[in-house]
Amino acid sequence: MNLIQLHEQFFERYGNQEDKPRVFFAPGRVNLIGEHTDYNGGFVLPCAIQYGTYLLIRAATDNVVRFTSANFEFSSEISLSNMNQKVDRQWVNYPLGIFDQFAQLNIPVCGFDLFYSGDIPNSAGLSSSASIEMVTAYALTVMMNATQLEMIDLIKLSQRAENEFVGVNCGIMDMFAIGMGKKDHALFLNCHTLEYKQVALLLEGFSLIIGNTNKQRGLADSKYNERVAECQLAVASLSQRQEISKLGEISFMQFYKIQEEIQDELIRRRARHVISENQRVLNSVASLLKGDILLFGALMNASHESLRDNYEVTGFELDTLVAEARKINGVVGSRMTGAGFGGCTVSLVRNNIVEEFIEKAGKEYQMKTGLKADFYIAEVSDGVYEIK
Ligand code: GLA
Repeated sequence: MNLIQLHEQFFERYGNQEDKPRVFFAPGRVNLIGEHTDYNGGFVLPCAIQYGTYLLIRAATDNVVRFTSANFEFSSEISLSNMNQKVDRQWVNYPLGIFDQFAQLNIPVCGFDLFYSGDIPNSAGLSSSASIEMVTAYALTVMMNATQLEMIDLIKLSQRAENEFVGVNCGIMDMFAIGMGKKDHALFLNCHTLEYKQVALLLEGFSLIIGNTNKQRGLADSKYNERVAECQLAVASLSQRQEISKLGEISFMQFYKIQEEIQDELIRRRARHVISENQRVLNSVASLLKGDILLFGALMNASHESLRDNYEVTGFELDTLVAEARKINGVVGSRMTGAGFGGCTVSLVRNNIVEEFIEKAGKEYQMKTGLKADFYIAEVSDGVYEIK
């Protein structure tokens, strides 16, 4: 949908063509490596992509906030005094959580007419929810001239909205990538200290291809929270030997020496994934800085194996799409990306075989799973901004 159509849709819903809305955009993200490490205080390497969420916003004349979307039927009108209650349809809770955070920070807001339109596939692990949260937080900051809020504050309050209001104990990676993303760069983030570097993605001759398995991620949120809890159990066991508060605090060598403290074999595997994945992120950054694409691809492959065998968040569809991708000559790495349990893969593919890749991997995947995959060539893009 182009900007003219978005404006038309806004006026269809809210009228008064004289008073124009302002337009904001927040991207989605794809994580290159560093999966399920963020809430463990570890390292991640995501980047913002060209798909995202548009928000058209205009101050209302009353104290009511109206939410509509081009993607979902359900809309909502909520008076400012009732903004701290969840509604029974998912998507409105993402922006509502942001209004709730503004209230908790005592930042005044007025009534608004809001119209959202997104082109990120939903529930695919490309952070459509964080994109809605960040575009709302950024737009409210600009509209209310809340200059005390910096980008890092918007990132943190969006994460709190998701944790406290929506009820998913996610880490900070998605919001961070959406807030701080930079064209043609990946974000190397230490989720414990929040120090970060923008690492140039010099993928000369290669493309990043996102493959959507189109497998519905049923119960994904509860399984995600289960993994968060399992990591906390691992921390408690390891702390008997060495006091830690997050798994990200220890290196793989240290873990190797004290891993027997974790009696439960399953919990030990969960910890092994997180701690080895941290090391893979460090090695990935080093390989990208040297332009060693083949090594980076091998690390992506190893990440998938660990997510499959140790963390157990892949499943038949993700494993199949990854396996089919890797059979094709010219694919140097392929892994699941995001929370898992369905959703997307990301593959590093030589430019001259992109079409062949999409056709072959798609065909084999469909034969084996009965599902049709969608493919997108990722363009690494800037973080949230206003379209002027
Ligand atoms: C989801 C969460 C992130 C992160 C990933 C897994 O996308 O929102 O915070 O934990 O899963 O790496």
